[in-house]
Amino acid sequence: MGIETSCDETAAAVIEDGRLLRSNVIASQVEIHARYGGVVPEVASRQHVLALVPTIQKALDDAGVSMSQLDAVAVTHGPGLAGALLVGLNGAKALALAQGLPLVGVNHLEAHVYAAWLKRDDEETDDPASGVGFPLLCLVASGGHTDLVLMEGHGIYRLLGRTRDDASGEAFDKAARILGLAFPGGPEIQRVAEGAKGEERLPRAWLRDTYDFSFSGLKTAVLHRAQELGIYPPSEDGEPPPAELVTELAAAFQDSVVDVVVAKAIDAAREYKAKGIVLGGGVTANSMLRLRFQERSPLPLFIPRPALCTDNGAMIGACGFHLLERGVRHSLDLDIDPSLGLG
Ligand code: KG4
Ligand code: ZN
Repeated sequence: MGIETSCDETAAAVIEDGRLLRSNVIASQVEIHARYGGVVPEVASRQHVLALVPTIQKALDDAGVSMSQLDAVAVTHGPGLAGALLVGLNGAKALALAQGLPLVGVNHLEAHVYAAWLKRDDEETDDPASGVGFPLLCLVASGGHTDLVLMEGHGIYRLLGRTRDDASGEAFDKAARILGLAFPGGPEIQRVAEGAKGEERLPRAWLRDTYDFSFSGLKTAVLHRAQELGIYPPSEDGEPPPAELVTELAAAFQDSVVDVVVAKAIDAAREYKAKGIVLGGGVTANSMLRLRFQERSPLPLFIPRPALCTDNGAMIGACGFHLLERGVRHSLDLDIDPSLGLG
């Protein structure tokens, strides 16, 4: 079983042999946090407390297994919100202790990579390791991270580049807010950007000679252009800004992020002679980003379907399986690590 509570989704899943999705249950808190325009950590922790046991129970029911039939419990222990991580970790410990199961703590970022290993019963796909082998260039782009990582083997990661300021998902969320769109901003920007004519263009922070990223300048550029166009600040009478302007600016923002992320990932894959490119994290659910990778990548791509790019318990289970295979076991003393990194 994989359990995930690092941010605003309470999630649990049953995974067989590290790949097969037996169940995948996600209790999203998005509507609650949307009222505040972002994730409120204390509210997230309380919601996890309410949702955790029913979510685990539903994951068992959907998979048609009982607690005693599980082989192990994998749980996110970092990175993420401290109070949120504690709920999942303590729940996982209770399950492991009660059933006498091995416990394995999972790095949420590593788990985003392992989403590419997952498959349904009716899918005949190779996983990245058996399909093309190592090394793999992995892009993990989420609300808190934008990392380019070389995966040289199971559990062997080399960090090639990361964001120097905002994460790409965070930039999507902030840009959406400027444009008067709902939280979370990524799916909203994707939605309104459809049908844009390409009339706006925003700068790209290339940061040449490094695989690092920077997105805060782009956010500022969105703000200035939104002010010029009269989109921001929002009008006092509650009148929404002209939809065409929002569409053009949203598309320009999305284009800038996608352009830089795709180009850097492909450059890094070439330089490090990667055999394939693996995508993971909420931002890689973005349809434009996926399309651009498909158009430009000279290497085989492993792109989980959108629901497996955003946070879920299945990826925790898949990652946990591979940790267990390498003999990793954690004691009940395992603690959360809110700032855990990869590589
Ligand atoms: O991986 P994730 O679900 O949670 C974290 O680990 O942070 O990523 C959430 C982030 C949010 O910033 C959200 O706006 C972004 O992923 N996101 C997207 C899309 N769907 C989610 N960004 C761009 N396009 C999307 N379709
Ligand atoms: Zn995530």
